[in-house]
Amino acid sequence: MTMEYESNSWIWDGLYYYPHFFGGLMLTAALLGVSTSYFGGIGVFSLPHLWSDCFHKKKCGKKKRVRVYMDGCFDLMHYGHANALRQAKALGDELVVGVVSDEEIIANKGPPVLSMEERLALVSGLKWVDEVIANAPYAITEQFMNRLFNEHKIDYIIHGDDPCLLPDGTDAYALAKKVGRYKQIKRTEGVSSTDIVGRILSSMEDTKACEDHNNASLPRDPLRAIQSKDAHLSQFLPTSRRIVQFSNCKGPGPNARVVYIDGAFDLFHAGHVEILKKARQLGDFLLVGIYTDQIVSEHRGSYHPIMHLHERSLSVLACRYVDEVIIGAPWEVTKDMITTFNICLVVHGTVSETNTPLTVSLQFLYLPLINYCICYIHN
Ligand code: CTP
Repeated sequence: MTMEYESNSWIWDGLYYYPHFFGGLMLTAALLGVSTSYFGGIGVFSLPHLWSDCFHKKKCGKKKRVRVYMDGCFDLMHYGHANALRQAKALGDELVVGVVSDEEIIANKGPPVLSMEERLALVSGLKWVDEVIANAPYAITEQFMNRLFNEHKIDYIIHGDDPCLLPDGTDAYALAKKVGRYKQIKRTEGVSSTDIVGRILSSMEDTKACEDHNNASLPRDPLRAIQSKDAHLSQFLPTSRRIVQFSNCKGPGPNARVVYIDGAFDLFHAGHVEILKKARQLGDFLLVGIYTDQIVSEHRGSYHPIMHLHERSLSVLACRYVDEVIIGAPWEVTKDMITTFNICLVVHGTVSETNTPLTVSLQFLYLPLINYCICYIHN
């Protein structure tokens, strides 16, 4: 798929270096496009667009910025979605994301878990996203494709390499493919919204079974307990490369005020984006500590977390307000951590993570860390 993109780049380079030859070619193509549209064709979408780009490029003397569009439901947003958007951004310079409306999701897939507002907040919080379009349609219709090309100046429409079929069995991206403005990215295996819903349900069932068992004081079948826990284990295999791909690969500057916040960040939601944004505003570099699975289990019950440590770390790393994460942070902030990471401020949310509010307020965690904070600030 990257090859497909690279193999097309000669057109843009050609337009830049041989404007006369390509100008003639484009004029012929434009005339053909007009005639095609006269006979009901759809080639007309791309040709005037290329012609105006060519003209624009010649006038400005610099390469046109490639704008790409990816749409999706982004329900219970996970690192698979983030990885899709990361790959999409790499196919252009600016990434515009269409978040499919609740109504369209209901009509094509069934009701989403998260509302439009929450899904928008999550998508907008990703570091690869430049613009969002709310209430996008599920399928790329002719009218919407026109809007993307003319109003939003989109060059390519992108989707994962899994088939995306409408209820009538047709391809939701057929039109974009037909006009040669479609590109694919590789779908991330091992995670999906459906899989996460399954994990939540299975963890709820297990918690209930545990409670019933405790009430009935019957001996518990250990094999069933293991099988049950395995049923909602993640299939994700973390690699160092994936972590690097999500990372900013930059440390704090010499005088940066490093802010530290920690948490489970399980099932990354709009409230997390909000609190991370607020925490980042308090300094120059935001370091996020992600608790180990064991710490989360100890505090929330044995069937938590739903997403394991590496999955949770990737979701947090994908957030535009986060500079760095500690993968497997301790429950308590230690003196060593403050020295090692040059932390000047530790912040903590006042709202429990078991709620999923859109707005959360921050409270400074002064004790016992206030000495370190003040010390660092006065240095
Ligand atoms: N995507 C991906 N890897 C995943 C899940 C989704 O690359 N594990 C991509 C899809 O191919 C699509 C975009 O993310 O281009 C948005 O996907 P979305 O419409 O939200 O839904 P699904 O493809 O059905 O994925 P899921 O069931 O996880 O929501």
